[in-house]
Amino acid sequence: MSGRSVVLLLVIFLLRQESARSIRITDLTVPSHVVEGGSVLLECHNDLEGEMLYSIKWYKDNREFYRYVPSNVNPFSYFRLPGVNVDEKDSSSNVVKLVNLSPETAGRYRCEVSGEGPYFVTVSDEKNITVHLLPYKHPQVTGFRDEYKVGDIVAVNCSSSMSRPHTQLKWLINDQPVLRKYITGPWYRISRKRPDAKETILQLRFIITNEHFRDGILQLKCQASIAPLYQEEVVHHIVRAEDDVTDSKPVQVVEEELDEVFGHERAFLEPVGEIPMAEPQNDHGNILHKSLAAGISFILMQVFL
Ligand SMILES: *[C@@H]1O[C@H](CO)[C@@H](O)[C@H](O)[C@H]1NC(C)=O
Ligand SMILES: *[C@@H]1O[C@H](CO)[C@@H](O)[C@H](O)[C@H]1NC(C)=O
Repeated sequence: MSGRSVVLLLVIFLLRQESARSIRITDLTVPSHVVEGGSVLLECHNDLEGEMLYSIKWYKDNREFYRYVPSNVNPFSYFRLPGVNVDEKDSSSNVVKLVNLSPETAGRYRCEVSGEGPYFVTVSDEKNITVHLLPYKHPQVTGFRDEYKVGDIVAVNCSSSMSRPHTQLKWLINDQPVLRKYITGPWYRISRKRPDAKETILQLRFIITNEHFRDGILQLKCQASIAPLYQEEVVHHIVRAEDDVTDSKPVQVVEEELDEVFGHERAFLEPVGEIPMAEPQNDHGNILHKSLAAGISFILMQVFL
């Protein structure tokens, strides 16, 4: 054997030794967002590259909470930490199930894989978990009247129950995003039960025009979301009043009326406390009076004829 091939064999041998020691974490599954009260599976998969496994250990914020050591009589160990409740029956060498997730569950999770001696090569990887509190009920819409006509003011609120972080609310008219000037708020109300959670309210105010009705129906939608875990919407249909014969006003006139009614406050991004509200125009009383009067004069004419 030539000196050159001896060197080559030595290099191959050393490379093999090296690769045998290169344990890798191939996949660390730690969801970045989880839901308070729920559960989550943490997974740590590795490639031992021929090495023997000594241990897989899990840490939260550098404190160990779960350990798998196959050579131990009891291979699994679990150490209690605030907010870290391991469901031992659903956990194994590569998977740890956390249940009853709470705000304290949030933090940095690290999986650490070690090979057997003599090298005890150790590799680790980590990811953060954020815990969201989702609204416990559907968004609520308040302030609708039974009937609307062209020229009427719609002033409605969409509110979401408490959440952390706060819920993003959005109004759509006939599935189109609404101009900012028709929106007031959002208002945030800190929950008394949960000082870390907030309710959100977003108000929509506009004057109905002819164009708003599609085949006599105006659709209003409020979308509530907390990315990436939560998305809900409520839809409300306004059916055009039967006796609505009002001519459509040009959009410009409606805009001016809206400015008169709401002033310029509605352009503000932040709520400005009490906002002067005009009485919604309601002509029902008038129409009733007029038709009643017409009816009476008709009867009178009959009598006199
Ligand atoms: C995890 O959060 C900590 C702060 O709590 C931050 O310093 C770190 O960069 C985050 N790590 C990742 C992987 O996002
Ligand atoms: C909408 O919410 C605001 C802020 O809480 C409140 O002042 C207003 O009265 C509400 N209006 C309706 C129609 O619910």
